Amino acid sequence: MTDIGGPPQAATDSGRPLLAARNLTKTYGRTHALRGAGIELAAGEILAVTGPSGSGKSTLLHCLAGIVRPDGGEVTYGRERLDRLPEERLSELRRTEFGVVFQFGQLLPELTALDNVALPLLLAGTARARAHERAGAWLERFGVRGQQDLRPGELSGGQAQRVALARALVTGPRVVFADEPTGALDSLAGEQVMSALVRTARADGTAVLLVTHDAQVAAYADREVRMRDGAVAGAEVTS
Ligand SMILES: Nc1ncnc2c1ncn2[C@@H]1O[C@H](COP(=O)(O)OP(=O)(O)OP(=O)(O)O)[C@@H](O)[C@H]1O
Ligand SMILES: [Mg+2]
Repeated sequence: MTDIGGPPQAATDSGRPLLAARNLTKTYGRTHALRGAGIELAAGEILAVTGPSGSGKSTLLHCLAGIVRPDGGEVTYGRERLDRLPEERLSELRRTEFGVVFQFGQLLPELTALDNVALPLLLAGTARARAHERAGAWLERFGVRGQQDLRPGELSGGQAQRVALARALVTGPRVVFADEPTGALDSLAGEQVMSALVRTARADGTAVLLVTHDAQVAAYADREVRMRDGAVAGAEVTS
């Protein structure tokens, strides 16, 4: 792998969250998607964000992951003000420190499962043979090694989501952002995806920001916060 500067200093500071947002606002036309949302994610923590449809969960996740710039407020990753970073540094962070997985996996349809997982490593400069070796090991970890030569259209929904998780984790991110990762799955496949995600995150110390409207999925988290009307309404310990 190319050296991309290592984790931010504050990632090792005690007592400081790995990722934090304060007073975030985001407006789309006349819709106030976020109205003063705040949240903190500790290193290695699995945090569920729940709340009704339209309450701003995905928008908050996008702001925290550096995909969307908030109109106001602050997002801090380690010592860096994410909301102020130049696009170049943001995309570097997204490639190296963050992993994302969405409801419909969003795998590239023309690539095999193995190539989908290898892609982030190839983009980071890893040699092809090594990238494939690591991608294969991640597919193994998620129980989908046998499907490595299939394309996304040939996978079941649950298999595709496990491939998407492997792709999100293959670079060894410090934070994984998962927006309704089980939303398109039946409950058994959803449980398989969640247990694979949680087991891996715990083993590797990866923090997870999990957006879900499903209480059974939220129960996998260490902590849950609820959103309502663009703000975080309340917090509770789920385990
Ligand atoms: N790109 C966009 N353009 C216009 N409006 C948007 C956009 N993204 C979000 N919104 C609006 O902002 C509000 C919050 O949307 P968001 O997607 O964050 O909600 P959510 O809590 O994730 O909902 P769901 O549970 O249905 O996924 C909604 O009213 C939505 O219509
Ligand atoms: Mg959403």
